[in-house]
Amino acid sequence: MIDLQPVKGTRDFFPEEMRLRNWLFEVWRGASVQAGFEEYDTCVLEHEELYIRKAGDEISKQLYSFEDKGGRRLSLRPEMTPSLARLVLQYKKSLSFPIKWFSMPQCFRYERMTKGRRREHFQWNADIIGQPEMVAEAEILMLLISACESMGLRANDIRIFINDRRILNAILSQLNVPHELHSAVLVIMDKRDKISPKALGKMLEEIGMSTSQVEQLNEFLSKSDLQELKDNLKDTEGIEELQHLMQLMETAGYINYLEFDISIVRGLSYYTGAVFEVNSPGKQHRAICGGGRYDSLLSTYGGETVPAVGFGFGDVVVLDVLKELERFPELPRTLDYTIIPFDSEQVGIALKIAAGLRLQGSTVDCNFSMKKMKKSMQQANESGAKNAILLFPEELSEDKVVIRNMQLREQKPIKISDLIFLRSKLLDYF
Ligand code: HAM
Repeated sequence: MIDLQPVKGTRDFFPEEMRLRNWLFEVWRGASVQAGFEEYDTCVLEHEELYIRKAGDEISKQLYSFEDKGGRRLSLRPEMTPSLARLVLQYKKSLSFPIKWFSMPQCFRYERMTKGRRREHFQWNADIIGQPEMVAEAEILMLLISACESMGLRANDIRIFINDRRILNAILSQLNVPHELHSAVLVIMDKRDKISPKALGKMLEEIGMSTSQVEQLNEFLSKSDLQELKDNLKDTEGIEELQHLMQLMETAGYINYLEFDISIVRGLSYYTGAVFEVNSPGKQHRAICGGGRYDSLLSTYGGETVPAVGFGFGDVVVLDVLKELERFPELPRTLDYTIIPFDSEQVGIALKIAAGLRLQGSTVDCNFSMKKMKKSMQQANESGAKNAILLFPEELSEDKVVIRNMQLREQKPIKISDLIFLRSKLLDYF
């Protein structure tokens, strides 16, 4: 007997779950299109080397990778950003920057399974490439907020915790940590919530930081106020940029979603500027969404430096949050009509009426199970049909059918020609 369960960490989507997934995709797509983003896609199979990074990113260790029959090292994509970078590098000459693109890929990571983290997830990505100014961050944040708002989430339900890598780099430079160590230090710092301070200190010392540097770093990271940090730092570019973004968001009317948080580092080494994560205000969950500016990713693949900012917004945590807040959308199955023939004699006319109604834009199913009328009615109710069309020989002899309003439980005969514009007539017409 083969294993009937889905592969560990992956999900099957039965029709009910598929309705929810489609609803979420519509929210994502709707918000993106409304904000002027264009959709793109790439194949789930990618070159493994896109994900191999020197700084020790966790993602490089979580690859579903293999060698194909032609000896190529391939991987299922764990994230979309490297594929986007590949596309942009490939078509750079013909693109008119800045570009605003979005996609909704399925991503695979061999993760330790915890709440909110699976081995497969769908991840809405939206990125602006070619805009170096902070207005790109503002647009990106407004986009993700607008999607959250159309799911019914407001500023007291979610918070965007934001920081800037330049602030962290300024701290490290002030502590005389060599520049080439910064990315690796930040990747380790991102584990702060997951491991003990002692273990974290040990990891930092292993890559070359001294005990006193680690202590001073912790001292800096205990500051929660931007102004206090500014007073203690020599290089204040990151802080000023972040304050500028906050001002833009204030003017646009979204500031109540934002909170400066020095502990936001992000585990991907390619971020260079603003970094942010969305969570519930008390951070009870794993991140709902994460992103930031990554101006040098494209140059690490051999191109020139191209400014870029974006986010990944997974389907798993946001649905947990909506469920907890009892804001899950109600998505019953619906149909405009179910056609129920009395016996096999009426199958042909049932198909003809179905075709006519579908041509008029209605959603129509036929029940060919030839069950007793009571059972067929029950099935019509279960399918969410608003109307049943009953085909009885007597009415059909007068070119009529019986139409039943399922909610009112009322029915009456109607002429077929009043119900549908016959497909044959329509085809003749043209
Ligand atoms: P990330 O933080 O690795 O960023 O993932 C973004 C989001 O994807 C997370 O906040 C979470 O919602 C979801 N996610 C990630 N891993 C899992 C998992 N194992 N199970 C369920 N959900 C997950 C990136 O991937 C960046 N490439 C995002 C980005 C786009 N940055 C710039 N542009």
